[in-house]
Amino acid sequence: MIILGIETSCDETAVCLIEAKGEGADFTYTVLGNALISQIDIHAPYGGVFPALAKREHEKNLVPLLEMALAKAGLSESGDTSCEKLETILARETELRAQLIPFLQTHTKPHIDAIAVTNGPGLEPALWVGINFAKALAAAWNLPLVPVNHMEGHIVMSAFSNREKSMTRDVHINEVHFPMLSLLISGGHTELVLSKEWMHYELIGQTRDDAVGEAFDKVARLMGLPYPGGPEIDRLARTARDLQESLQKTITLPRPMIDSDNYDFSFSGIKTAVRKIVDAHSPLTEEMKMQIALEFENSCAEVLTSKTIRAIEEYNVKTIVVGGGVSANVFIRESLARALSENGYGTQLLIPPREFATDNALMIALSGYFRASRGEYADADSIRAQGNLKLAEVKK
Ligand code: KG4
Ligand code: ZN
Repeated sequence: MIILGIETSCDETAVCLIEAKGEGADFTYTVLGNALISQIDIHAPYGGVFPALAKREHEKNLVPLLEMALAKAGLSESGDTSCEKLETILARETELRAQLIPFLQTHTKPHIDAIAVTNGPGLEPALWVGINFAKALAAAWNLPLVPVNHMEGHIVMSAFSNREKSMTRDVHINEVHFPMLSLLISGGHTELVLSKEWMHYELIGQTRDDAVGEAFDKVARLMGLPYPGGPEIDRLARTARDLQESLQKTITLPRPMIDSDNYDFSFSGIKTAVRKIVDAHSPLTEEMKMQIALEFENSCAEVLTSKTIRAIEEYNVKTIVVGGGVSANVFIRESLARALSENGYGTQLLIPPREFATDNALMIALSGYFRASRGEYADADSIRAQGNLKLAEVKK
């Protein structure tokens, strides 16, 4: 099955074509064409993602990315596809329509079986661009549509990042064993999700306030670092760890809810504690920034690791999957791996390569494949952007 995946939930515009087959241990896929444009530099001056700007950038980027992915996949053929419905479908995406009509008039329908698109969670104006783009292509090419939950995309990506046939990394082809626990850590989510079977989810814990990625971004901002703060803190803390011998430890941050009798998280207290330190030491020296980054990462890693290990023990978890932008964090990756090997349960740990930890369309195409292979197509009219779409609501 050849699937086109489309992702526009936040500040990455992404399109990916995969060919996938099989189920369970026999599942394999090949990336035929993958294209992504990050809007990070555009949103950085605002210190966060600016929805109206994100919508405009997605509109501008989707057609060029589709052309790139189709060309890489060798699926781009000149010809003509007509579609009368585009004016209506893309009534609110005039910039996108202005590019898509000439594109369709010069290209024939590619050999694709289904179109998968993120319908939530995320920023609704941004989600709508991807959804309407998918609907327009589905109408023009007469293809079925699969709505994909972005968080399921992160899980599937992490679970199967080692299954690409053409991947040359030295990873083993592992089968996912159940129960599987997903630790989802991104800019909008911090969740522990238990799966007793494939594509079935139970939320066992979540953040009560800020998501961990949001805390990285806010703490970085307090320290005067650019947006997004996650990669900045990651780098700064790594330098600090290299210097640890000479770096004096003068600050301590809290580990919120680390001993609470549940799997919930809280990160806003750490941010408040950082604010107090910043206020007391302003202007911050480079050494102080390094100390904060290091201690902040220690705090996040300890809380995340401790709750995850406890859930593994309680639910007898066989596979742990880590997904979402924060799973790109080197120290958090190492902390989880270390804790798992020390705890001796032999739980398999699956984390995607760092470049596929953050948002991309491969994850949407993969999740789309599993939904499509179950015949879970949706009527174009029924697909809507759902900013707060829950994973637990994903149809089984
Ligand atoms: O999954 P993602 O790309 O988008 C959302 O769905 O939110 O995650 C983005 C988040 C941002 O908060 C960003 O600061 C964080 O992931 N992030 C990181 C790192 N790379 C991205 N956080 C810590 N360390 C990193 N290396
Ligand atoms: Zn994400």
